[in-house]
Amino acid sequence: MKIIRDAKSLKSERAAMEGSVGFVPTMGALHQGHLSLIRKAREENDHLIVSIFVNPTQFLPGEDLDKYPRREEADRKICELAGVDTLFMPEIGELYHDDEVKLKAPSYLGYILEGHRRPGHFDGVVQVVMKLFGLVQPTRAYFGKKDAQQLRILQKMQEDFFLPLTIVPVDTVREEDGLALSSRNVYLSPDERRRALSISRALKRASKMVMAGERSAKRIKETMMETMDEIDVEYVEIVDRNFRPLEEIKLQKSIVLVAAKVGETRLIDNLWL
Ligand code: PAJ
Repeated sequence: MKIIRDAKSLKSERAAMEGSVGFVPTMGALHQGHLSLIRKAREENDHLIVSIFVNPTQFLPGEDLDKYPRREEADRKICELAGVDTLFMPEIGELYHDDEVKLKAPSYLGYILEGHRRPGHFDGVVQVVMKLFGLVQPTRAYFGKKDAQQLRILQKMQEDFFLPLTIVPVDTVREEDGLALSSRNVYLSPDERRRALSISRALKRASKMVMAGERSAKRIKETMMETMDEIDVEYVEIVDRNFRPLEEIKLQKSIVLVAAKVGETRLIDNLWL
């Protein structure tokens, strides 16, 4: 596995690759969720590039940029074992320039729900992912459904800018007890972790209600709120694939989204119906 830290070397490495190139962008502190993207990308492509970059522009002032977990050594080993060809770990100055052109997330998709709670967050995400796409020029890029809104915005960016690549969505990986894997789970104390489980429990209840024939978004949201009575729920929303709120569940077309604070840690999770 080659470790590359500068943009110029990555470009020449990429230029020498023949065939398809799979790309998995991450912020590191890799877990089984990331690994599932990496494995899928490994299977589907001739070459595999993973990036690790804690992107400052997608963190708001006061968020966890400084304490975001950084585990370079462990991440390197994980990538090596997973058969990654090239691991790109740039410093900020390799990716960002002075007074640069700035992309903005779509004004609806980028500023509801997560975007409303974290204004500017998705602007930073599209900015860095566009840069990474420019450098890596992937055939396929892999993103988790766990970050459903991010995934939709990046699909939109691909469509809007006619980017010559395929965005591949990957299912959410969970712990055995249901907790969605996240690099931020390390912040949780044992008691917070126990309480955080009510998020996936609420989603499971929603899924059971829908399987039993319930279609009212209002009733499903109410039941979910009752399940999450020990945490600070920011929103529970049921939307279509373009993130328009739904009153009635439509099968194969709905996403149930949750954001909550458990202690100081902000968690998101969702269920695709
Ligand atoms: P990060 O949070 O490190 O996540 C990298 C990728 O892993 C994302 O596509 C995310 O959706 C996916 N992922 C995280 N947890 C997952 C889980 N439990 N199951 C499946 N996939 C999961 O998302 C980012 O980084 C950044 O915003 C990035 C796209 C790299 C831009 O900076």
